[in-house]
Amino acid sequence: MADASVKRVCLAYSGGLDTSVILRWLIETYDCEVVAYCADVGQEEELTGLPEKAKASGAVDCVIRDLREEFSRDYVFPAIQGNALYEGTYLLGTALARPVIGKHHVEVARETGCDAVAHGATGKGNDQVRFELAYRALGPDLEVIAPWREWDLRSRTDCMAYAQKHSIPITATVKKPYSIDRNLLHISFEGGVLEDPWRAPDSSMFVMTTDPEEAPDTAAEVIVGFERGVPMSIDGQALRPAALLKRANQLAGAHGVGRVDMVENRFVGLKSRGVYETPGGTLLQAAHRAVESITLDREVMHERDRLMPRFAELIYNGFWFSPEMDFLRAALDKSQENVTGEARVRLYKGGLHVTGRRSPVSLYSEALSSFEDAGEADTYVQADATGFIRLQGLRLAER
Ligand code: ARG
Repeated sequence: MADASVKRVCLAYSGGLDTSVILRWLIETYDCEVVAYCADVGQEEELTGLPEKAKASGAVDCVIRDLREEFSRDYVFPAIQGNALYEGTYLLGTALARPVIGKHHVEVARETGCDAVAHGATGKGNDQVRFELAYRALGPDLEVIAPWREWDLRSRTDCMAYAQKHSIPITATVKKPYSIDRNLLHISFEGGVLEDPWRAPDSSMFVMTTDPEEAPDTAAEVIVGFERGVPMSIDGQALRPAALLKRANQLAGAHGVGRVDMVENRFVGLKSRGVYETPGGTLLQAAHRAVESITLDREVMHERDRLMPRFAELIYNGFWFSPEMDFLRAALDKSQENVTGEARVRLYKGGLHVTGRRSPVSLYSEALSSFEDAGEADTYVQADATGFIRLQGLRLAER
């Protein structure tokens, strides 16, 4: 509970109802100063006027950090390199943004002389775990305050009443039908009517993707270029990470690519229904796999594929800054040394199909694989297959 030693708190702040109320509640409860911190990870929310708003709610300072480039380059692209997919479906859009937000939260807290950090994640979700594990790893000396687990406000109505009582400036008063989290990689929807896992999402809910039924009747083709597993270009044009991700979102989103509707296992032990739109990430991961198919050694690929579910689980559970993640990432980086080349992907009515792949360092040999005879130079001697199969089959005949 309220720790009297806390003098200055750095709060992850969005300007919405919850964090505005938290800001004031911190001042009232801890008799402390509050520095508001806002991370721009591409949530497309209006940030102008945010410092004024924070100060009107009682903050002594407000720091905004543009993390879009760093998020894309150091979090999203490594996940693409590792083909990270949680429970076979979720591209980890929220989970990947939490560690970069947490990292800068610690930095801003230090730079502004804070002795505590606070966040607005609830006590039932994964996000509290992800933020706080990042704080532990990077700022173990900082006190952590999670108001949703501490205070006696239970609902939106309670928050509204609190805001009214303390004359906290609140702009939007319409109830949000879902819990939404958006960034450059994805948008997620949870809660509200989606809590019934049988209930289909309303088509009006989607933001980053066109309804596949309304998508263009003609397919589009996109060529994605990679260097060492890192996305570098789209249709031959070199782009920096955030711009590339944005472009991939536009192209795939226009064709309705990247919608997912699932029930997932949260780290805290609950099952939860989530709907996601990850258009660009879906395109990049498919293209990445296609380039890998001609540039990765078979055994390296299979080893990497065995590591992938663990990689995804560490991201999901919030262990980005951990020794086991450092170990995994070193292995994944090593696997990507030869993953340079291009893939051509067709986008059509919510679907996506790889139609070509090429690489200057391809391991694919048309001559070796060909059904046609390659002649004298052939290192693959078909007669060798007789002994190969005979030895493989020995013990099968002995049963
Ligand atoms: N279920 C997803 C995850 O755990 C999305 C969470 C979205 N967070 C939110 N506060 N709405 O990664």
